[in-house]
Amino acid sequence: MLGAMAERIVSDVLTKPDAALEMTLRPSLFSDFTGQANTKERLEIAVQAATLRKEPLDHLLLSGPPGLGKTTLANILAKSMGASMKCTSGPTIEKAGDLAGLLTNLEEGDVLFIDEIHRLQKTIEEYLYPAMEDFKLDIIIDQGPNARSVRLNLPRFTLIGATTRSGLLTAPLLTRFPIRERLDYYLAEQLQKIVIRSSNLLAIGIEESAAMEIARRSRGTPRIANNVLRRVRDYAQVRGDGRITQKIAEQSLAMLEIDENGLDEMDKRILEAIIMKFGGGPVGISSLAVAVGEEPDTLEEVYEPYLIMEGYINRTPQGRVATELSFKKLGLKPGSSQGKLL
Ligand SMILES: Nc1ncnc2c1ncn2[C@@H]1O[C@H](COP(=O)(O)OP(=O)(O)OP(=O)(O)O)[C@@H](O)[C@H]1O
Ligand SMILES: [Mg+2]
Repeated sequence: MLGAMAERIVSDVLTKPDAALEMTLRPSLFSDFTGQANTKERLEIAVQAATLRKEPLDHLLLSGPPGLGKTTLANILAKSMGASMKCTSGPTIEKAGDLAGLLTNLEEGDVLFIDEIHRLQKTIEEYLYPAMEDFKLDIIIDQGPNARSVRLNLPRFTLIGATTRSGLLTAPLLTRFPIRERLDYYLAEQLQKIVIRSSNLLAIGIEESAAMEIARRSRGTPRIANNVLRRVRDYAQVRGDGRITQKIAEQSLAMLEIDENGLDEMDKRILEAIIMKFGGGPVGISSLAVAVGEEPDTLEEVYEPYLIMEGYINRTPQGRVATELSFKKLGLKPGSSQGKLL
């Protein structure tokens, strides 16, 4: 269908200076951010409305599997609000004093970005509630009989939390985020655009069909697509003339043993476990987690959504079930329970 288009080099900028290789691939404007159309529209409206009211943006929680653009969006949001962003992450805030230090150093309108916010300690989380709601911080100074609580006024700031595991957030914390957005896996066409954009930034010549080949095998994830692109670029430089043609892409992806459907090792282990150990399912998430040696939450929030989206497994009230596609993927007859150990 692509016909002659397939041969067209859509990014042919091999002459760019080497410094371009250092250029970050992270988009810094909404207009450069591909995909997630609904989320993007809602966020752009929130930014415009807050700007019109000359107020800071409401607190906002970004959730979704790794590498889909949470940190990228946080940066874009801060930039489009003209705000400066201070970054930290849940596990690095060890004491209430750490949080107090961060909050009291903020200026009006600043963005505080807390990555992996689900890993924030519960005691610290409680200090965050009045800070988010009323821009007040109650801290205890001194110890023993002299201990007293002091209330500090904070500047109006925006908290942006990011998490791969929104299910682990406590209800009081969740409800303190007026804006909550969940990022979804990208379609191959969207990843293709991202691959072409990255190729331009990295000064790599790439055919449209080759970009699609990389996109299809990147598990719906921009970070993976960018990483695969870099590996394919290496191959193109050593085995070809540096340009990524459809043929070079196919050869290098085969050499890299990147699954043609984009499944990674853990994805395959999950399918194998459901079919071989549990006769195709249904199997509960905890039994499955034990079988593949992973946390149930990680399975549910990081791996399962992609496998469900691609039609490899179904979630039923009795548990997870492997579909025909999974059997085919493992080279088994659909519905066969040859591997059943039970
Ligand atoms: N929509 C997009 N358009 C173009 N590039 C993107 C997009 N989303 C992500 N990327 C690219 O993917 C990379 C990974 O994205 P990012 O670091 O924002 O993911 P994340 O959701 O924060 O992941 P983690 O949960 O691991 O922190 C970015 O450096 C950027 O280059
Ligand atoms: Mg991130």
